[in-house]
Amino acid sequence: MPRNVSIEIFRYDPQKDDSPSWRTYTIPYEEKNTVLGALIYIQENIDPSFAFRYGCRYKRCGLCALEVDGKPRMACHTYLQEGMRIGPLSKLPVIRDLAVDRKSIFHDLKKYSLYIEKKEENVEIIVEPEQGARLRSCAECLSCLSTCSRYNFGNGNFGGPFLFVKLAQLQFDPRNSKNRFEQAHALGIMHCRDCKNKCFCPNGINIYGDAICSLLENNVD
Ligand code: SF4
Ligand code: SF4
Ligand code: FES
Repeated sequence: MPRNVSIEIFRYDPQKDDSPSWRTYTIPYEEKNTVLGALIYIQENIDPSFAFRYGCRYKRCGLCALEVDGKPRMACHTYLQEGMRIGPLSKLPVIRDLAVDRKSIFHDLKKYSLYIEKKEENVEIIVEPEQGARLRSCAECLSCLSTCSRYNFGNGNFGGPFLFVKLAQLQFDPRNSKNRFEQAHALGIMHCRDCKNKCFCPNGINIYGDAICSLLENNVD
């Protein structure tokens, strides 16, 4: 006999609602259902206005990142359970329901030139150290921002874990021609030295060890 589960979901449309609310949904459950499957079910069968993002459904695109019981998770890679409380990434402004403003963060990549500039002398075969290769598996989901108490959206004085991962990726890239240590310093990485609450990546990236420590070891102050 089919079983049901009840879950709570954050709902908020800043254009219409005075404040956010948590709504309970009871939906059919099968073993190994994912949180993403539940969200799709709700949108298709209960409320077509429910907003959330997803893409690859396989932990690659990072679009389905959200919080389950206050912890960042990838919806496509998290099993559904009775009583879960599912909300948006808490450090980013809500556009609607579980969809957050990712665009502003990606503007920062442009603003701080966090990309490789194309030059004729760029090497053709890229051999990067292991740490760089590990950091390259960042899915750009932005979940790590939820785990950093110092990070505040819109505060240009502190870049936060995602920008530090990007800076370290670039620093390990043999084609990089900019001083990424200086940039990390300008974005406040020295505050990470005494951090007791190390940032977490649901995709398995060792943000502190592979990115932040390597940028700190070579810092300019
Ligand atoms: S480091 Fe991890 S949590 Fe942060 S954006 Fe990359 S994949 Fe997401
Ligand atoms: S080490 Fe601490 S302060 Fe630095 S990015 Fe991670 S959680 Fe934030
Ligand atoms: S849908 Fe792409 S990571 Fe989950």
